[in-house]
Amino acid sequence: MALTAHSTVGQWLDHPIGGPILTELLARGGATPDALGPARGLPLAQLVAISGGQFPAEALDAMLAAYHEAAPEEAAEARESQEAAGWVEVITPGRFTGQTVIVTGAASGIGRAVASRVAREGGRVIAADISSDKLDEFVNGIRGALPTGAEIVAVAGDIADEDDIARIVAAAQGRIDALANVAGIMDDMSAIHEVTDQMWSRVLRVNLEGTMRLTRAVVPIMLKASQGRIVNVASEAGLRGSAAGVAYTASKHAVIGLTKSTAVMYSRSGIRANAVAPGGVATGIHVPGQAQLGAPVLGTYQHNIPTLAMAEELAASITFLLSRDSVNINGAIVASDGGWSAV
Ligand SMILES: NC(=O)c1ccc[n+]([C@@H]2O[C@H](COP(=O)([O-])OP(=O)(O)OC[C@H]3O[C@@H](n4cnc5c(N)ncnc54)[C@H](O)[C@@H]3O)[C@@H](O)[C@H]2O)c1
Repeated sequence: MALTAHSTVGQWLDHPIGGPILTELLARGGATPDALGPARGLPLAQLVAISGGQFPAEALDAMLAAYHEAAPEEAAEARESQEAAGWVEVITPGRFTGQTVIVTGAASGIGRAVASRVAREGGRVIAADISSDKLDEFVNGIRGALPTGAEIVAVAGDIADEDDIARIVAAAQGRIDALANVAGIMDDMSAIHEVTDQMWSRVLRVNLEGTMRLTRAVVPIMLKASQGRIVNVASEAGLRGSAAGVAYTASKHAVIGLTKSTAVMYSRSGIRANAVAPGGVATGIHVPGQAQLGAPVLGTYQHNIPTLAMAEELAASITFLLSRDSVNINGAIVASDGGWSAV
């Protein structure tokens, strides 16, 4: 029987190749297969979800990679049947080997999925986020599962603060192949007569000013190297007026302007800038309130949202643009939204 992330713990343990792989992983944490007792019937992917970080997704990746290496034909067959059943993240080993990529918002949601994927594909990731606890938890969880040469460096800081930006850039040690500006915050869905000064400045400061400031600090290093890719995370709210409140909508429209200007300015310098506009993504992004007029008005448009994506699906779009394979794409605003923007 071929193994996948959806095979049960028992199926892995009973498999002639999978059994030793799982047993060795358990031994590294000081455990034996007996410790899994009642979990034998659970799919491995589900174990990741309920383990509270004790069995991280990266450990599952490492197991799958070891299985693919030991039984390539069997693994390919399993992957095909799994892909037929729905999308699964399949990494491209070595896609970012030798490259340094800065990812902001790396402690959670889309940024975390991007940082994880780039590192598992061999890159040196500078993972930046304002939430130092969540960032440490992520980085400590993934470190042991990275391929040789890959690295993940945590820099806790605010992307709108010049001192923190200097620390993020310094961690890159003079080489930045790509920058993913993912960090961002939501508003309270307020219409323009409801928006407070505080909400307006907070949202514009992180989503727009932070993106501008960090990019401004990174571009000189890319100019020196005559190469670099910048990917800004905009939103459906950067394409239309019905996806969020006025502050968030204005900030994400501005991120699109910033992306297009950057694309034009450096088009002859080897630097490319693109944006991804996510639709609905299941990340738990904090929505700080429901404005009295704005929230119900926006609610009437939500039936247009065709699907809610996983963070890993967005990482698939973003890492493509971060990679060298996006070679001929510059100034593009790529909607990664299951078709919402086409409605
Ligand atoms: N989740 C969605 O449905 C959705 C849809 C469209 C666009 N987006 C955009 O995607 C991006 C990521 O969102 P997510 O859903 O993963 O949210 P998330 O809240 O899970 O992650 C955002 C991360 O950014 C960090 N952050 C916030 N302010 C920061 C600052 N000043 N400096 C450094 N880090 C900071 C947070 O600590 C958090 O870890 C955001 O730009 C968001 O606007 C999300």
